[in-house]
Amino acid sequence: MTDYKKKIAEAIEKVTNIDSKILESFIEIPPDANLGDYAFPCFKLAKELKKAPPIIAQEIKDNIVVDSEIIDKIDIVGGYLNIYINKKNLANTVLREIEEKNENYGSQTIGNGQTIVIDYSSPNIAKPFHIGHLRSTVIGGALYNIYNFLGYNTVGINHIGDYGTQFGKLIEGYKRWGNEYDIKNNPIDELTKIYVRINELCKEDESVLEECRNNFKKLEDGDEYCTKLWNEFRSLSLEEFKKVYDMLGSKFDSYNGEAFYSDKMGEVIEKLDSTGKLVESEGAKVIKLDEQNIAPCLIIKSNGSTTYATRDLAAILYRARTYDYSKAIYVTSYEQSLHFKQVFEVAKLLGLDKKYTDNLIHVPFGMIHLTTGKMSTREGNVVKLEDLLNEAVSRAKEIIEKKNPDLENKDDVAKKVGVGAIIFNDLSNNRIKDEIFDWNQVLNFNGETGPYIQYMYVRTKSILEKAMLPQIDEIDTDKLSDNESIQLLKKLYEFVQTLRDTADKNEPSILARYLIDLSSCFSTFYNEHRIIGEEKNVQDARLYLTYACNLVLKTGARITWDKHARKNVIKCCNIHIKHI
Ligand code: ARG
Repeated sequence: MTDYKKKIAEAIEKVTNIDSKILESFIEIPPDANLGDYAFPCFKLAKELKKAPPIIAQEIKDNIVVDSEIIDKIDIVGGYLNIYINKKNLANTVLREIEEKNENYGSQTIGNGQTIVIDYSSPNIAKPFHIGHLRSTVIGGALYNIYNFLGYNTVGINHIGDYGTQFGKLIEGYKRWGNEYDIKNNPIDELTKIYVRINELCKEDESVLEECRNNFKKLEDGDEYCTKLWNEFRSLSLEEFKKVYDMLGSKFDSYNGEAFYSDKMGEVIEKLDSTGKLVESEGAKVIKLDEQNIAPCLIIKSNGSTTYATRDLAAILYRARTYDYSKAIYVTSYEQSLHFKQVFEVAKLLGLDKKYTDNLIHVPFGMIHLTTGKMSTREGNVVKLEDLLNEAVSRAKEIIEKKNPDLENKDDVAKKVGVGAIIFNDLSNNRIKDEIFDWNQVLNFNGETGPYIQYMYVRTKSILEKAMLPQIDEIDTDKLSDNESIQLLKKLYEFVQTLRDTADKNEPSILARYLIDLSSCFSTFYNEHRIIGEEKNVQDARLYLTYACNLVLKTGARITWDKHARKNVIKCCNIHIKHI
C-alpha cells in the first residue's frame, strides 16, 4: 500500500537534507480536507535551516520532485505546504490492499518476536464483579487483540485477587455463621454478606480482628482447614465470574492470581533485603521512595504478613522469567496509580535487566458513575455486572420488538446488540475520563454507539447480498472520484495508522472512535449515492467500496469487542537475573 507520509517525507528530505524519519513525524492531517490531505508545517525546520517558514515552503515547493501518480499538487498557505494526493492512486492502493489481505487488512508485523503481557480484569474472590472490573476486562481485552493484530505474541493474565487479610475475615465469618448462608447456590452475594457482617463485628471487637489476622497467617502457613475453605471460596467465585466472561466472550491465558505468588515472595524479600533499602518502620518493613517523591512501599506488615505490592513484585519476577516480555501492561482504575508507581520503582531493586523494569506500564482508566435508577440502588452502590449485562440484553430486545418485530433470531441479536453496546460504551470514552453511564445513550442506534456501528455493518451486508461482487480488476476507480467516496476511501486508508496509534497510546477509544467515523462516512456515502441500480461500472465500483467498508467494520469490531480474535503462542524462556 502506498505510504503517503513516507513518500512525502522522502521527497522533502531530498530538498532539505533532513532525515525523512524526522520529517515524517512532522506531517499533519489538516482538519479541513479543502486544505489538502496532508500538511507540512515548515516552521518546524526554521531553526535548523535558519530561514523563515514561508521561504522554506517556497524552496521546497520549487525543488521537490514527486511522482504525479501519487501526489496531485502542492500549495503554500502561510508557512505550510498543503499536499493533495492523487485520488485514483488512493482508490487503487486501498482497494487492492483490502482485496489482497481480506480479513487481515490492517494486520502488521511490527510486533513479531515480541511478547506483551496484559494484566486485566482481575476481580477479587468473594466480592462482586463490579462495573470497574468490566472496564478493565473490556479495555484489556481490546488491547490484547490489537497488539495481537500488530503481530505481537500476547499473554492475557487475570491476576485474581484471591489472597490477603480479607480471607482471614471471611474464614472467621464462615466459622461463626457459615450454616446460615446458602453459599453453594449464591456464593458471591452470600460471602459478601458474611464479609460485611464480620467487618462490623471487627469494628466492635478488636479481639475478633486479631482472630481474622491469625486466620490469614494460618492460611499463609498452609493450615489445612483454612486452605480448604479458601479453595472452596475461590472455585465458587471463579464459576460466577465465568458466567460474566462467557457473556462478554472474554478469555485469558492465565488465571494466576495473587495466591499463586504466595511461595514466591521470599525471593523478593531476600533481594530487597540485600540492597539494604528494606527498612523498619513502625514494626513494618518498607522501601522508602522519598527521592521519587512518593509514599513508602509497604512490603511486610507489622504482623509479618505480605502485601498486595509484595505479590505484584513477585509477579514481575515471574512474568519476566516466564514470558520474557517486551512490555507488561496493567489495566486498572486510576485509584491504583500510586500502587503501581511504588511497585514499578521498587521493581528496579530486584536485579532484573532494565528492559523489564523500563517497560512496566500502568494503563489507568476513569471511574464509572451511574445515573440514578435501578442499577444504583443496591447496597453500597455496587452494580453487579451480570445484572447490568442482562438488563442491556432485555432493553435491546425491547427495542428490537418495537423496531423489527418480525426478526427471526431476536434473542441472539438482542444479546449481540445489548452486550456489544455495553462493551463499546466503555471503549469509546477516552479511558482516563470518568464516565457517566446512561442507558439512553448506550443503546442509542443513532448515537456514537456500538449499535450504530452494528447497524451500519448490517446495512453494508444487505447491500452486498443484492448483487454480485465484481473482481478488483473490473473496477473503474474513476467512478469513485466524488467527495463522499473519497472521504470513505481515506477513512479506510487510515485504519492501519489508527491501529498503531491505538497501541502506542494504549487507548482503545482511538479505534472505537475510528469505527464511528467510518460508519458515519459510509452513511453519508450511502445517503448521497445510489449503489444498486446504477450504470454497471458505477454500481461495481460503489459495491466494491461497500465491500471494503463492510470488511473493515467487521475486523474493527472483531478486534475491539469480540474476544475470539486471537492467535496465540506463549513463549516461555529463562532469563538471566543479575545477582546483587
Ligand atoms: N484485584 C485488583 C482489584 O480488584 C486488581 C488487580 C490488578 N492487577 C495487579 N497486578 N495488581 O482492584
